[in-house]
Amino acid sequence: MKVAIASDHGGMNIRKEIISLMKEMNIEYVDLGCEGNSSVDYPDYAIPVAEKVANGEVDRGILICGTGIGMSIAANKVNGIRCALVHDTFSAKATREHNDTNILSMGERVIGPGLARDIARIWLTTPFEGGRHANRVKKISIYEAEKITFAMLGSRI
Ligand code: RB5
Repeated sequence: MKVAIASDHGGMNIRKEIISLMKEMNIEYVDLGCEGNSSVDYPDYAIPVAEKVANGEVDRGILICGTGIGMSIAANKVNGIRCALVHDTFSAKATREHNDTNILSMGERVIGPGLARDIARIWLTTPFEGGRHANRVKKISIYEAEKITFAMLGSRI
């Protein structure tokens, strides 16, 4: 598995923590910044990571900002992205099993480094369950890819 990771200035410490976790786990990663301590705009980091996931350059993405909210909103604007904002281990497992999320977002001003590591480890190692969940994810993908209305979705699946 190859992972793209990025943060804004509000998420740099947890980004470093997750990079060290991925090294321990022998997971290949590409670090897309940010560098330095100055204030940056989270879409400039979320969107490049999301594009790499969407075009298949990497398998997954991890994004960290102050709250995780801006990163998740921006990442989810990219077609094919299912980004989950996660601050607990139950959701980390459930969002892989049920939603097949391909990007994890966390907020460094919300949780500490230990919990962030646990969340990332669980999220990186939990497989998608498929089955009934696959049909639900497919509905989102068709709606997004075909730019149809909800009323038209019924005839497509
Ligand atoms: C930056 O101050 C902060 O707004 C950002 O890290 C993030 O929390 C946005 O959602």
